Amino acid sequence: MTIQIRPLGPCIGAVVEGIDLREPLTADQAAQIHAGMDRHAVLVFHNQPLTNEQHLAFTQALGTLENTANNTLRSAADFRLPPTMADVSNLDGNDKPFGRDDRKRLFAIGNRLWHSDSSFKAVPAKYSLLRAVRIPSRGGNTEFAHMGAAYEALDDETKALIEPLICEHSQMFSRDLIGFREFNAEERERFRPVRQRLVRTLPRTGRKSVYLSSHAGTIIGWQLPEARLLLRDLTEHATQREFVYSHKWQVNDLVMWDNRQTMHRGRPFPVEEARDVRRTTLKGEGPTVAQEAIAA
Ligand code: OGA
Ligand code: MN
Repeated sequence: MTIQIRPLGPCIGAVVEGIDLREPLTADQAAQIHAGMDRHAVLVFHNQPLTNEQHLAFTQALGTLENTANNTLRSAADFRLPPTMADVSNLDGNDKPFGRDDRKRLFAIGNRLWHSDSSFKAVPAKYSLLRAVRIPSRGGNTEFAHMGAAYEALDDETKALIEPLICEHSQMFSRDLIGFREFNAEERERFRPVRQRLVRTLPRTGRKSVYLSSHAGTIIGWQLPEARLLLRDLTEHATQREFVYSHKWQVNDLVMWDNRQTMHRGRPFPVEEARDVRRTTLKGEGPTVAQEAIAA
C-alpha cells in the first residue's frame, strides 16, 4: 500500500490514508510521514484501532519517546496507562470522570488554552500523537494553529522585534491565566520555568515559526506587563481562523502534530461524560536556547 496524504485546507493539516498503524512501519513510510509533518504540521489517521502497545510502537518508529510522567497532578492511584503514555482523559483510576471541582481536573483543563506540549521543559516536545478511545456526545474538539504561517503573516517590524527574544515557560504561568494559583513546594520545584526562544526554525525546512504557548509567562529583560501584552497580541494574531484546523474526533482517530510549528487547545465538553484520549510524545532534538549560558 502506498500512503496518500490529502491536505485539509490551504494552511494546516492533512489526512493520511493507505496505512495500517498496527503494522511495523517501513523506512519509506516513516520518511513520508516525516515529510508530511514538515509540510502540513498536523496529520490525521482515521480508523486505527490500536492497543496502547501498538500506539507506542508506531511512535517509537518515528523517534525517541519523551517522559511525560511528571507533567500532571495525577497521583499513582489515577494512573490508567503505561508510564510512557500521557493520560489526557478526564478519567480517574476507576475510569470515572473526575468531579467538576477535582484539583487534578482543574489543572488538566489548562490544556484548553493554546499551547505547545512540554514547552515548559528545557528540551521541549517534537511530535505528539493523540488517540481517541472514547469520545463525548458533543464538544471536545482539538484545535491546531500553524505558527509558521502566523510568523510569515507578521509585519517586518514585529519579526525584527521578536527575533532575539527569550521567554520563560512554566505550567504555573499557564495555570495562572485561568486563576489556578495554588502550588505546593514540590510542585513549584517541578514546574520551575525554563527558557525558550520566541522565534525558532524548523531544521529540515528552514521555515521560521513563532514559538508561543500559554506556558510562556515572561520575556527575559522585559517588564512583565509589556511582556504579557506582547505574548497575548502574538497569540491572538497566531490563532486567527485562517491558521486553524479544528479536529472533530471519531473513536480510533490518531492525530499527530508537530509542537515545533503549531499550538493546540482542547475544547470543552460535558463534564459528566467520559473522554478517553491517550497521548505519546516524541522528544525534541535539543533545547531552543542554552539554559546554563543564561541562568540567572
Ligand atoms: C494534548 C492536549 C487537548 C485535547 O493531548 O496534549 O492538549 O483536546 N489535548 O485533549
Ligand atoms: Mn497539549
